[in-house]
Amino acid sequence: MFVSDAFDVNSQGHLTVGEADTLTLAKQYGTPLYVMDGAQVRANCRGFVGSMKRAFGENGRVLFASKAFCCKEMCRIVCEEGLGLDVVSGGELYTADAAGFPMDKICFHGNNKTPAELAMAVEKDVGRIVVDNIEELSALQAAAERAQKTAYVLLRIKPGVEAHTHEFIRTGQIDSKFGFAIETGEADTAVAAAAQYPNVTLMGFHCHIGSQIFEMEPFLSAAEVMLDFILHIKEKTGVEYGELNLGGGFGIRYKETDAAPARQAYLDAIGEEIRTAAAKRNLATPFIYIEPGRAIVGDAGLTLYTVGSVKHIPGVRTYVSVDGGMFDNPRYILYQAEYTVLCADRALAPCDSVVTVAGKCCESGDLIQEHTPLQTVQAGDTLAVLSTGAYNYSMASHYNRNPIPPVVLVENGRSRVIVRGETYADMCARDV
Ligand code: LLP
Repeated sequence: MFVSDAFDVNSQGHLTVGEADTLTLAKQYGTPLYVMDGAQVRANCRGFVGSMKRAFGENGRVLFASKAFCCKEMCRIVCEEGLGLDVVSGGELYTADAAGFPMDKICFHGNNKTPAELAMAVEKDVGRIVVDNIEELSALQAAAERAQKTAYVLLRIKPGVEAHTHEFIRTGQIDSKFGFAIETGEADTAVAAAAQYPNVTLMGFHCHIGSQIFEMEPFLSAAEVMLDFILHIKEKTGVEYGELNLGGGFGIRYKETDAAPARQAYLDAIGEEIRTAAAKRNLATPFIYIEPGRAIVGDAGLTLYTVGSVKHIPGVRTYVSVDGGMFDNPRYILYQAEYTVLCADRALAPCDSVVTVAGKCCESGDLIQEHTPLQTVQAGDTLAVLSTGAYNYSMASHYNRNPIPPVVLVENGRSRVIVRGETYADMCARDV
């Protein structure tokens, strides 16, 4: 009925998530509140793992891009579902380690990993380190030499493919801070440098073309470019590097008008394309990694708020102010991201007004959604913003010293806190 199977309506007309009544959750845990449906997260994981198996057999792995939603319980769920993990900072790596995540199934990204982060990754025997630049390659050699270990790496390559998505989250083009360009010869230089370093073993290449992508073509073009590059390096050096990480970026539905992504068909097509394209170039099919973040958690989450005031400005607009805002969801102010907003108390009632949902921060741009259809609401109603499972909690801040809300996981009809909400005292705890 809604943008994802995680959301439904019960006999009282209340919105449910993972079969739990959102009004009960709001009452029990307070608002603002992040809620994740465990069954939906697991179904999304299984969808990707199953598709990858069909496409590549044992020759592929799904990594969850933990930047989308990182906490210890999420690492445990992903591990149980058989995925690996993509981390991009010492903090994400630390979280995975604290959750007991197997280090050999982790891929460590980042365009400017610090010496301490590199040392941590080497020390913990992280499965793959995705090297972004030439300085990092030598820093990694030094770290691995000090630890008397070997670092297994992929090189991040810019495939020069543009994905049709918001400019801020487009990363595949040449003008990007991420990775080595092919055209300029930078990528060749990096391959040659990696081969010189005794404590670094180059395993293959990585690319990532953007986020919230619905089209299949950009993925296919990127795969072609990467296979051409593998062939080029083979012809130049005689070495055929056997791993290819195609990154993440699979789109999800935020509004009912968004088409449901035919994910399995996509992955089947990508699998087919890669096998054919590799054979055409006389290459073995590489070991393939993909790194979905949003598509694993986005449609499994929602955020609950309490309406505090409704301000009609005749001839202008109506502001519905809630007890959260850009501190729990900065995606509207950053990207004008679209969401479905509902009154959780009367989820099936017709949306008879068009309003702007505003947050409580001292900033005019602190909006959750502008000109969105909504049921008529009043102070005290519970508002739900759907599909907030990705990049909401993970990008939350303390702006205006608002505490970051708790995250509740609903599974098998039971709810439990997986990230405790902050208190005012928590926020002052590190002040000196
Ligand atoms: N792999 C790499 C190397 C990435 O940079 C990203 C996302 C992913 C995988 C996962 O992409 P996904 O499947 O989630 O699209 N804050 C933005 C999204 C930034 C994505 C950055 N990189 C947002 O809120 O929309």
